[in-house]
Amino acid sequence: VRVAVLFGGRSAEHEISLLSARFVVEALDRDRFEPVLIGIDKSGRWLLQEEALLLGAARDPRLARLNEAMPEIALDAHPGPAGEATLTVPGGARAPIDVVFPVLHGPTGEDGCVQGLLELAGVPYVGSGVLGSAVGMDKDVMKRLLREAEIPIVPHVTLRRAAWDRDRGACIDQIAALSAPGSAGFGPIFVKPANLGSSVGVRRVKARSEIEAAVEHAFEFDLKIVCEQGIEGVREIECSVLGDDDPIASVPGEIVVGHADGFYSYAAKYIDADGATIRIPADLSPAEANAVQLVALRAFRALEASGMARVDLFLSPDRALYVNEINTIPGFTAISMYPKLWEASGIPARELIERLIALALE
Ligand code: DAL
Ligand code: MG
Repeated sequence: VRVAVLFGGRSAEHEISLLSARFVVEALDRDRFEPVLIGIDKSGRWLLQEEALLLGAARDPRLARLNEAMPEIALDAHPGPAGEATLTVPGGARAPIDVVFPVLHGPTGEDGCVQGLLELAGVPYVGSGVLGSAVGMDKDVMKRLLREAEIPIVPHVTLRRAAWDRDRGACIDQIAALSAPGSAGFGPIFVKPANLGSSVGVRRVKARSEIEAAVEHAFEFDLKIVCEQGIEGVREIECSVLGDDDPIASVPGEIVVGHADGFYSYAAKYIDADGATIRIPADLSPAEANAVQLVALRAFRALEASGMARVDLFLSPDRALYVNEINTIPGFTAISMYPKLWEASGIPARELIERLIALALE
């Protein structure tokens, strides 16, 4: 089975994707799968890649990069039966591919754009389809669907650039009103671009005076932003989901944030290893763990996800559970929860990747 692994991409999560792709390629069972590596550079060109460079980064993750000198390739669209897709190297041969594993994070890769292209090309692919990918990337639409499904979410406000430009004062009032009642002083508020991941563009605001800069910062990444009420003393719980019609949920894990500001930032995720640690399984009672799994599966269905997703939740000090978000192409880096939670649930990486590909080919 020829598996095209798509990675890199135009989003701000390009570098994370390189690390995730390395993990996926390393986990492929070579007796059954032949990887074809395709790196998308930051300008959107599709470049054939050599395995050595990607896997070489295993020794030092900071070395992960695309080889920009490799030939540009095209995916030929053959609308019709699956399995007819081919990759064409200009001036070279056409190579058939059986399935695509998009290991892309963020807009254009995780949001349905690439999935739509693959639909047009008639080639099966791992993970959610166009709709599930699109709603999973947009934190505003995601929250509306979760609310509609009566899945608990934290209070939030969605703001568009045009409204901000029209009346900043009114927007700041609206955002400041999210500050949790009863918190000493000003309760924290998270300001996020609506469409991104890995905490890129996200700021935690601890005073009304900080709102304006945080909003401006988030608008550098998107035309729409989402502001969320922070919960003092909150615990961050994550749960992995696998499957299509009958999805299963992993044991829950927990992110233990080391920094005093209680924020699992981009730096804590990928740069400063002391910023956060993960606890698997999460320290929960059996009833709580079960509740996490049930709500993760409900969110997976409500958001039209398929194949795989990681559902991120909050557990408040008074034991209330909220869904924060879904990630339809979760990180597969060495520190990533998605594969680690499956490993702890009895599905090691090799089997996980095999099952994901089998789901795509079903
Ligand atoms: N967006 C990152 C990759 C994650 O959710 O794991
Ligand atoms: Mg995310």
